[in-house]
Amino acid sequence: MRRQLIVALAAGAAVAVAAPLFATPDRVKLPEAYKTDFVLYNHVDRPDRKRVRFMYVNPEAHAIAEPGKVLPEGTVLVMEDHEAAVSADGNLVLDKDGRLAPTDALTGLFVMEKRAGFGAANDLPPEKDNGDWDYAAYKADGSPNTEAKLENCFACHMSRSGRDFTFTYFKNVEDGLPK
Ligand code: HEC
Repeated sequence: MRRQLIVALAAGAAVAVAAPLFATPDRVKLPEAYKTDFVLYNHVDRPDRKRVRFMYVNPEAHAIAEPGKVLPEGTVLVMEDHEAAVSADGNLVLDKDGRLAPTDALTGLFVMEKRAGFGAANDLPPEKDNGDWDYAAYKADGSPNTEAKLENCFACHMSRSGRDFTFTYFKNVEDGLPK
């Protein structure tokens, strides 16, 4: 009896080890109402890719995020990529401030979310260990982008480990982004 139990536990452990190593869209969802419920805190021009990227944060985290401190558990950041407007002669269209003009054409969505236990579940090597952050990519229609190489998310965002792994949000909070 006791022996059977141990065998069963060992089998369970083997299944747990075989689970995906990191990031799945099952874990990091695309928040349905981010457009209406989240705070649009930033947008970034990417002339190199002919894209404008809009960044949103969930209001619960935004209310308690503090400058220079690691971000609260439960922080969700959504980045929405749009095609930038291009004139008939192929040049990027600039507005009066010299910024790119976004079109309505959405090209993809990127989500990062911080939850207790995500890091342990990911079990990544130190050079990709983003603490309790996890990542997922979605297509413009909101379905999971299964082609996205999620390991690259961790590798590249690692370069901002001193800013809790975010390129823009941590800095915006430091700069006194209004609540
Ligand atoms: C090669 C580097 C690189 C890779 C790979 C990468 N990112 Fe990023 N990410 C950036 C940069 C840089 C920004 C800031 C916007 C900009 O300058 O384009 C950013 C911004 C973000 C943001 C907005 C919050 C923030 O940190 O500023 C989210 C969300 C995000 N990325 C998610 C992802 C996801 C999900 C993946 C993987 C599918 C991913 N990123 C892969 C470089 C990267």
